[in-house]
Amino acid sequence: MEKISIENVRSFWEKNPLFQGESKYKPGTLEFFQEHRRVYIEDCFAGKLDNRIFPTDMTGTVLDLGCGPGFWTVELARRGARDLIAADLTHNALSLARMRCHLMGIQSGFSQENAENLSFDNDVFAHVNCQGVIHHTPDTNRAVAEIARVLKKNGTAVISVYYKNLILRSWKKIAWFGKILNKSGAALAGRGREGIFAQSDVNEIVRIYDGIDNPLGKAYSKKEFYELLSPHFNVDELFYHFFPARSLPIPIPGMIHKWLDRHLPFMIFARLTKKN
Ligand SMILES: C[S@@+](CC[C@H](N)C(=O)[O-])C[C@H]1O[C@@H](n2cnc3c(N)ncnc32)[C@H](O)[C@@H]1O
Repeated sequence: MEKISIENVRSFWEKNPLFQGESKYKPGTLEFFQEHRRVYIEDCFAGKLDNRIFPTDMTGTVLDLGCGPGFWTVELARRGARDLIAADLTHNALSLARMRCHLMGIQSGFSQENAENLSFDNDVFAHVNCQGVIHHTPDTNRAVAEIARVLKKNGTAVISVYYKNLILRSWKKIAWFGKILNKSGAALAGRGREGIFAQSDVNEIVRIYDGIDNPLGKAYSKKEFYELLSPHFNVDELFYHFFPARSLPIPIPGMIHKWLDRHLPFMIFARLTKKN
């Protein structure tokens, strides 16, 4: 397989910022951000944000790493983060995050950063928020080491990645069902993802989830995620969310979505404390 470079990753996300190509609204408008928030909470959390993602103490400097269009930056600020930096590999994500913060009356610093090689000094942040980012970068181990490096002693982080749930683990056996789903109209709209369920290779499903041209997406088992984090962090809690109900051909009741979010989640989250 061809080696994926950070420039491949940057180029994809520069052209395809999160939620662009999915929204009916112009990126950067209030309507775009409102729709993004609604879809994010509805689809990724079955209707309710999980407070375990937010640090209990917001007094220190917080880094939102891989901020994308600034969803978490705004949510962190709304919950009391006052000393906040939003960082992303791409200029376009930062520009969207800046517009979102401006529209919502939120103060934040912004910095273009590669998670694998952060420009910050050691021991500067009290908390790092990093949702759905490090599974897109070529050297994920290095990104985790960098997050630990920039955290202060006893600093905390919440990191999430794609989770190899039962569906992904069993895909070889159930790919035929995916093809039927695909024919019945199940798909993710926009970003060239219409054929996502017709894929036979599970790695392709994970990659195509963010767009047909996405160079890199990795999914982790619980054990793999733990092994990735534990050299640098005490893993305080692992928890799970995300069943993309919007990809189904018909709407499903909220109760069923909540059940799927709990029992067939596609994201794994870790609450972490830096090892001293
Ligand atoms: C799926 S989006 C997630 C955005 C945001 N964290 C959220 O949850 O809404 C992934 C983001 O990670 C950024 N990204 C990918 N690799 C990165 C890296 N090595 N360093 C910093 N940001 C990166 C991309 O530019 C993109 O904005």
